[in-house]
Amino acid sequence: MPEFVGAVDQGTTSSRFMIFDHAGNEVAMQQLEHTQILPRPGWVEHDPVEIWERTDSVMRNAVRQGSLSPADLVAIGITNQRETTVVWDRRTGRPYYNAIVWQDTRTDSISAALERDGHGEVIRRKAGLPPATYFSGGKIKWILDNVEGVRADADKGHAIFGTTDCWVLWNLTGGPEGGIHATDVTNASRTMLMNLETLDWDDELLALFGIPRAMLPVIRPSSHAGAYGTARTSGPLRTAVPITGVLGDQHAATVGQVCFAPGEAKNTYGTGNFLVLNTGTTLVRSRHGLLSTVAYQFGDSPAVYALEGSIAVTGSAVQWLRDQLKIIDSAPEVERLAHTVDGSEGVYFVPAFSGLFAPYWRSDARGAIVGLARYHTNGHLARATLEAICYQSRDVVEAMEQDSGVHLEVLKVDGGVTANDLCMQTQADVLGVPVSRPVVAETTALGAAYAAGLATGFWQDEDELRLHWQESKRWEPSWTEERRAEGYAGWQKAVQRTLDWVD
Ligand code: G3P
Repeated sequence: MPEFVGAVDQGTTSSRFMIFDHAGNEVAMQQLEHTQILPRPGWVEHDPVEIWERTDSVMRNAVRQGSLSPADLVAIGITNQRETTVVWDRRTGRPYYNAIVWQDTRTDSISAALERDGHGEVIRRKAGLPPATYFSGGKIKWILDNVEGVRADADKGHAIFGTTDCWVLWNLTGGPEGGIHATDVTNASRTMLMNLETLDWDDELLALFGIPRAMLPVIRPSSHAGAYGTARTSGPLRTAVPITGVLGDQHAATVGQVCFAPGEAKNTYGTGNFLVLNTGTTLVRSRHGLLSTVAYQFGDSPAVYALEGSIAVTGSAVQWLRDQLKIIDSAPEVERLAHTVDGSEGVYFVPAFSGLFAPYWRSDARGAIVGLARYHTNGHLARATLEAICYQSRDVVEAMEQDSGVHLEVLKVDGGVTANDLCMQTQADVLGVPVSRPVVAETTALGAAYAAGLATGFWQDEDELRLHWQESKRWEPSWTEERRAEGYAGWQKAVQRTLDWVD
């Protein structure tokens, strides 16, 4: 009887459930978007209850779509938008506040105070991260300080925190009736609260944020039989399927792209872009604005580390053209609009909507469109948006090469935006290296399935998974060196403008 592995991908814009066969092929996929709540400039929230309801629906529907029985699933993995912070009451399952999303910049003054008071160094050294609005620690503190009754409940052990993997896991394993309150090392490594060397919550870091340890989930390996319990029979699958893999979405994509050797890297194009370079079991500290993070930890093996270049706004800049400016009706339409012109003709768009992440780490930066003449059209803006995705990736590739000494021969890409041919061609042009996309572009869900399946023996080892990886398309650079250098110099000037604005 054929057997399958399922993966929940709880992302920033949608939740999906995918089912894969033994060869790593997609058998079924269901996806539902959730509401983006934007109460004030710089604030981004999600409704955790809506997220759980959507996750529940896509799981039911995918099993139906694949004409499978849930009993055909040997294991489930969970992957998720990282850092997004949920605090809920373990007695009722009710969130105290909306989820504060990773893009939200309301905690700017918390990060600035940590830096000002001289705590930046210890956070960098222990957590591998700069104090920034991006990570969960400040978001938890904000909820404890601003939402009535939460601190008192946290002290009594009622109010608990989780990123959305943890929220989905807790609900899937029973909620208030015995739900498992656990997360994995990769998600924990994004909180500013975990020590990258001990792989445990760090008392000094917890004290800096005033967060009681009792609020926090247990940290487990990313792939482990028995670490995350089983889905409740009263839940969406109606069967006790074991949950054996949990990891943050960019870590899952690294696994899905089979970047198992030091020096192997991938770039995922989602709401933001995230370039992850495997550095093996050595913890490498960045000197050029990248993050040190856990790539994954399989079973009882030592953790594998990575350097990461995180870019806050790439695909979501296209959504901004669609939802706020309304110059396109759907995100894929940006490619057609960009094709109405031959180039951006001097226009640069720096979408610093959440400040600028890697390698700049400036929460206070704000977006800018520069170089406009009356001549320019929506087409040029669409072009400049796609180029912004590619130039931001070049910024982190440059930082990565300087930090690691690894020269990129080819960029492995995945994620929704990689369906945009023009954008991928522009990426190869801007970088001057070929860009390669695998057959399964949904590597995030695939990586979570791999983590889950490795734990149960469905897949034997990394070498077996490597055999699944196949290239579907490659883009070769076509710009001259001169054009590339000129274009990038213009981009760097434009970025400087977004920083000057607030200086
Ligand atoms: O760190 C944020 C990241 O995990 C979000 O990824 O794909 O939901 O934009 P995505």
